[in-house]
Amino acid sequence: MNIIILDTYKELSIRGAGFFIQTLASNPTAVLGLATGSTPIGVYQQLIEQYQAGQLDFSAVTTFNLDEYIGLHRDHPQSYYSFMQQELFQHINISPDRIHVPSGVEDNFGAHCQWYEDAIIAAGGIDLQILGIGTDGHIAFNEPGTALGSRTHLTDLDQQTIIDNARFFDSADNVPRRAITMGVATIMDAREVILLATGENKAVAIQAAIESPVGSECTASALQNHPNVTFLLDPAAASLLTNQ
Ligand code: F6R
Repeated sequence: MNIIILDTYKELSIRGAGFFIQTLASNPTAVLGLATGSTPIGVYQQLIEQYQAGQLDFSAVTTFNLDEYIGLHRDHPQSYYSFMQQELFQHINISPDRIHVPSGVEDNFGAHCQWYEDAIIAAGGIDLQILGIGTDGHIAFNEPGTALGSRTHLTDLDQQTIIDNARFFDSADNVPRRAITMGVATIMDAREVILLATGENKAVAIQAAIESPVGSECTASALQNHPNVTFLLDPAAASLLTNQ
């Protein structure tokens, strides 16, 4: 487990983007695992800048996003599909048929979850997965109590997550209560993982992820067993770590 502490969000975003740049330099057909939320936006901005400067080519890249809200059509402004279009996809030369975001509107979610897992395998597995972390220690929407062996599944969002994500909606009442998410085991299969966290409100989750025994109460703790994981933290998010 590598832990890198950087002073500013900009530095963290540049370092995070560096992992993508390196992956694409060695493999232009890489499979990238992507996250939504506030934290990775700076990384995506860096990638857009590098693309606009002619330094990056996404034409042969395949992507898989971590999660989506149940009940939101992909055209809904708050869907994670819309988020990815706005924050990354519409600014780069990625081929639309290589973009995968789980669907929040399906008749048969069981079949869709299995399709998502199969599609990741068919693409050759995820080369580099970027993650944020919830204040409750979730990765993707694997809330406390989720089995560490879980695969893509439907889940109820914790009250804390609903409150945390209310900032993207008019009010907490409008935050969907359910989501479809890659499982912990799906994430653990990625060949490389980076987890970004900033701010004091992530310090407890980061301490649990890195220093508590591995367990489903903090699903990010599973990453302690990943062979190639890097935590990119700012000093506030790292502030409760005993071994800095
Ligand atoms: C997003 C996701 C979530 C977020 C987490 C942190 O696709 O899977 O696990 O990474 O909730 O969100 P932010 O970055 O907004 O603090």
